[in-house]
Amino acid sequence: MKIEEVKSTTKTQRIAAHSHIKGLGLDENGMAMSVSQSAGLVGQETAREAAGIVVELIKSKRMAGRAVLLAGPPGTGKTAVALAIAQELGSKVPFCPMVGSEVYSSEIKKTEVLMENFRRAIGLRIKETKEVYEGEVTELTPVETENPMGGYGKTVSHVIIGLKTAKGTKQLKLDPSIYESLQKEKVEVGDVIYIEANSGAVKRQGRSDTFATEFDLEAEEYVPLPKGDVHKKKEVIQDVTLHDLDVANARPQGGQDILSMMGQLMKPKKTEITDKLRREINKVVNKYIDQGVAELVPGVLFIDEVHMLDIECFTYLHRALESAIAPIVIFATNRGKCTIRGTEDIVSPHGIPLDLLDRLMIIRTLAYSQEDMMQILKIRAQTESIQMESTSIQYLSVIGTKTTLRFSVQMLTPAFLLAKMNGRQSISESDIKEISELFFDAKTSAKILAEHEEKYMK
Ligand SMILES: Nc1ncnc2c1ncn2[C@@H]1O[C@H](COP(=O)(O)OP(=O)(O)OP(=O)(O)O)[C@@H](O)[C@H]1O
Ligand SMILES: [Mg+2]
Repeated sequence: MKIEEVKSTTKTQRIAAHSHIKGLGLDENGMAMSVSQSAGLVGQETAREAAGIVVELIKSKRMAGRAVLLAGPPGTGKTAVALAIAQELGSKVPFCPMVGSEVYSSEIKKTEVLMENFRRAIGLRIKETKEVYEGEVTELTPVETENPMGGYGKTVSHVIIGLKTAKGTKQLKLDPSIYESLQKEKVEVGDVIYIEANSGAVKRQGRSDTFATEFDLEAEEYVPLPKGDVHKKKEVIQDVTLHDLDVANARPQGGQDILSMMGQLMKPKKTEITDKLRREINKVVNKYIDQGVAELVPGVLFIDEVHMLDIECFTYLHRALESAIAPIVIFATNRGKCTIRGTEDIVSPHGIPLDLLDRLMIIRTLAYSQEDMMQILKIRAQTESIQMESTSIQYLSVIGTKTTLRFSVQMLTPAFLLAKMNGRQSISESDIKEISELFFDAKTSAKILAEHEEKYMK
């Protein structure tokens, strides 16, 4: 099995609407803290505290194969709480968000999509002792020669790199391919890096702390000058997900000689991950775990809008939750009693089959008070750098109680634009009034539809 070149396949997510959420905002006893220290979340104390317990269960690894359901009306912060759980778990625990409707694709089977996301949510921490060159970069010089293929321009023939540790320095002559990885990791003189001897993989660990006073950029991580020799054996810890391993070991489609050569050139994205491959990988993973080389890190699969799944998916999920390596699954839905998709007339709470529902721990989110809405609007305005008079926050929160929180949050940016057009720097009450006359919320719109039914096409 190949582990060296495993690239992370973490999904990038658009969470712009939740960028103010930094965590659950709980104190050391797991109680919800008040607004000022609450890491972006306002109110919803019970849900937050329950989510805190889920986080504890996950961290102490007593949660695998279980599932949680966040249920509540639209715009009550279900997605926000789920993302806060992800923040609390930190970057070492895999968190794979998906939306129920993602399973409907004409190319891939529904269960295949679910399986892939399941495996994205199971992590493996691999400890390996590797031969490395480690140190602070003292010199980094690409050496160029005339392009041997003729033509203009020069090519990098090798790279000279100087590495310094507390014990000594060493100068290395490296292959140009490593130069590329050095550039990818944005290595500069003064960084602490290590290069794996047999794969040439480069890892930048941070900036050497002798440079700590250079700029005070918070984003930079400063690390001490490594001890020992430059060339040594080092315990390297790598976090990957099962899906990363699937992808890294999947053969490009085709596999004919010529094709695979072309394939290497074109780096095809389409690869085949078969059940057989997954079984093979599971076998190797289990062996690694038995040998103590690797440790399983069950993460979280978050399925938002779970009512979009159909009965086939639910059955599959139910079975998958029973398997030996399963992640923790968090569902969210805003549906009440409704028919389960894919059935004729089976009505069930939240559109989830009763037998699955029976396994879930349910966390409810409740509608917000006007007070809470004001707080959330204030935080949102701050994160979007929107100036707002306090009377307009109040006014907007009143609109929020009549419509939904999401609607009033969405009105912030257009209202600010309007204020600027009117030559003001902060949103006044009149801007909000004008904007709320221009745009309708779902309820008002539905009411208008009902009143003027005869004017619309059927
Ligand atoms: N308690 C809260 N504190 C701070 N911000 C919140 C809170 N609850 C919700 N928000 C913000 O309000 C907006 C709507 O919330 P969210 O998207 O989480 O609702 P939802 O319950 O997932 O709704 P839906 O059922 O429609 O998916 C988001 O921008 C979210 O970040
Ligand atoms: Mg949501």
